[in-house]
Amino acid sequence: MKRTEMMTEVSPNWDQFYRQDINAKIPFFCREDRIYDCLFSQQFDRHLLDRLFGVADKMRRLAQTKAGADFLASLLSHKRAMLYFVQPSTRTFLSFQNACHILGFKTSEIRDTSISSEIKGETPEDSVRTFSSYVDLIIMRHPVPGFVEKTAWVMNRAKRPVPVINGGSGKDQHPTQALLDVYTLNSCLKGGVEGKTIVMVGDLKRGRTVRSLSYLMKNYKGVRLVFVSPPQLRMEKDILDFLSRHLIPYRETDDLGPVMREADAIYMTRIQDEHDTAGESKKVDYSRFCFRQKDLKAIKDTCIIMHPLPRRDEIELSVDEDDRAVYWRQERNGMWVRAALIAHIFSVEDQILKRS
Ligand code: CP
Repeated sequence: MKRTEMMTEVSPNWDQFYRQDINAKIPFFCREDRIYDCLFSQQFDRHLLDRLFGVADKMRRLAQTKAGADFLASLLSHKRAMLYFVQPSTRTFLSFQNACHILGFKTSEIRDTSISSEIKGETPEDSVRTFSSYVDLIIMRHPVPGFVEKTAWVMNRAKRPVPVINGGSGKDQHPTQALLDVYTLNSCLKGGVEGKTIVMVGDLKRGRTVRSLSYLMKNYKGVRLVFVSPPQLRMEKDILDFLSRHLIPYRETDDLGPVMREADAIYMTRIQDEHDTAGESKKVDYSRFCFRQKDLKAIKDTCIIMHPLPRRDEIELSVDEDDRAVYWRQERNGMWVRAALIAHIFSVEDQILKRS
């Protein structure tokens, strides 16, 4: 269903809208058959993923020359973007900021509400609405689940609509991290992600990156997932139900040792203790969910080791020297994939693909 067909049915009440099934909501965040607000991994199909990854590849090739970089920077030089990151971030913030600059955007930022008018009592909703007076794109990270979606819902109904990109919302979703993760899997694994066994390790209950990545797996045939976590931090039922509905085989274990041998990719994550309510992470023995130098001998020669970063000690530093450790490459891929997504939202990807 296209957005125009759906508009007559859309609820003017946020709470009612929010409670709807995601498939009913997705058309509201599209315009002219393309993503307008990027909020959930479920918005991406295989065709769009392949297209975005092709645009990312083309942009990085073009940017190797001054003429190519100048061309890219001319495409959206009349646009401005707001980065509202009120939850800590290093790489998502920087990669989005630099993705904007690659395409010529001017950027503004708020990273701390104690120095915005929210400290004077302005609601977060009014605060983000203010941005639409000044900018053409809002990129957000927010600790409250659903708040980025609510911003998109508000902005879509405003007189001057502005697209919104989710740079991480609560423990809910981080769709652009999932995009760069799949781009990395495809570029580092022979034959791409199809048919591969991906082992996700760590705090799967509260890790929004592994949630968003699991959703994207519906686009790839023959993928098998293995979830390795402490019993208290298992993947949530909504994701397991989604995988079952899409006939994606998965299994759960708390023992990394045996499963690492069969992995084509091992996706490590840190414990997400910022979501603790009563220090519950302190009771978890996380040492069993770490990848050590000695484990390099156990994994396949072709297996890649990934991490959304930041890490603590769940990957031993010396592992970085191994060619199979791709997390620093993964991080850099984020800038190009995010630039490709912005190019898509602003309908300039055809110009990029046609440029010789
Ligand atoms: N992967 C990721 O979201 O990193 P940051 O928190 O540094 O943005």
